[in-house]
Amino acid sequence: MKFTSIKGTKDILPGESHRWQYVEQTIRTVMHTFNYREIRTPAFEETALFARGIGELTDIVGKQMYTFQDRGGTSLTLKPEMTASVIRAYIQHNLGEQQPLVKLYYCAPMFRQERPQAGRLRQFHQFGAEAIGGQVASIDAETIALSLEIYRKLGIKPITLKINSVGCEVCRPPYKEKFKKYLQHVYNKLSEESKQRFDQNPLRILDSKDATDQTLTQNAPLMKDHLCKECDRHFAQLQSHLTTLQIPFIVDGRIVRGLDYYTKTAYEIISSELGSQDALAGGGRYDLLVEELGGKSTPAVGFAAGIERLLMVMEKQKVKTNNELMPLLYIASADDRGKHWALEQAMQLRRAGISCEVDLLNRSLKAQMRDADRQKALYVIVVGESELAQKKISLKEMSSGTERSISLNDLMTELEKIHTGI
Ligand code: HAM
Repeated sequence: MKFTSIKGTKDILPGESHRWQYVEQTIRTVMHTFNYREIRTPAFEETALFARGIGELTDIVGKQMYTFQDRGGTSLTLKPEMTASVIRAYIQHNLGEQQPLVKLYYCAPMFRQERPQAGRLRQFHQFGAEAIGGQVASIDAETIALSLEIYRKLGIKPITLKINSVGCEVCRPPYKEKFKKYLQHVYNKLSEESKQRFDQNPLRILDSKDATDQTLTQNAPLMKDHLCKECDRHFAQLQSHLTTLQIPFIVDGRIVRGLDYYTKTAYEIISSELGSQDALAGGGRYDLLVEELGGKSTPAVGFAAGIERLLMVMEKQKVKTNNELMPLLYIASADDRGKHWALEQAMQLRRAGISCEVDLLNRSLKAQMRDADRQKALYVIVVGESELAQKKISLKEMSSGTERSISLNDLMTELEKIHTGI
């Protein structure tokens, strides 16, 4: 029987994992400069957490969750996003008691049963940040600046920031009615999906990919033009902060996001390199979620970004990353004594932090040299009875082919010098 990975999941193989490490390291470095601290939560949670947090009527909860019953009969779900989990942990561990503004980041796999296509997977990875405990618009601006800084640091461009305000519990209900009234007379022409959304989640109609829906909503009233005083002020302040930070943005009243918890700010970061799945990142404010999940009323804002999509853009733009780490030294052995020595010496070098490889398949010297080449070792030495007797070896640099003779006793110091110079 032959097994393959599940549709919509991907193996990250050795030839590409160094790119992931580079991206993750950059994310961690930038997160640290913004004073966000890492949080890790379990891969699965009680199903009700996501149903409650993301919203029963969303596509994620309605169609995409990997939900199963464990042997004890509890309904569990592989996390489709992190925000609900982070807030669950924030409440459970009273993180808000330690400081008024809690800034957390993550980098983790998520699971959604979507139709797989380029940039859309069933297990994908997100990095993201959540700032919990503050309501001023400068925090919204900081999370946006943070996500953009990661893209800048990685060297990808151009990307577009689209911002919107989706209002709050004061201004959204009357706007919803207005919006529905506007669409009432064309209801029959709407797509089936939009008809379904009409009653329960009408704002998502603005997000429809259906051409007729798009035409029908072209001149529809938008939330951003019907904000209450407080939401309007917040949105104006956000724009002013972004301008101060010299962050270009587009106000797009059609950004509604696919999760129900948003209030006020909603935003997306788009790359034109990505085709139909063009969102690199999405986020916004969710001032009601902590309370909704059983905590004290606490405002919060955050974003999450897809790592696979980021890597796709980096590849398309031929962005340079780090090189894969290769062994510094390959110790080829000419005979049994050499093999013995190689095994023992390799251990000492490894303890000193130097990566090295030895022959573990009892190959001929010629085959070992071919292997050193295949392993892309930077240097090679050949050791046998005569080298050990003379206490001298020849250190060969593979890229140039140059060899120099050194004393066996100096090998460690020589390699340490090379290692610190890399
Ligand atoms: P989201 O828009 O559902 O937001 O996901 C954020 C990003 O994750 C997307 O922009 C995309 O890059 C990536 N992504 C989503 N689904 C997939 C998929 N099936 N395959 C590949 N990449 C995908 C959230 O998840 C919110 N929790 C963001 C947030 C945090 N809002 C506030 N705080």
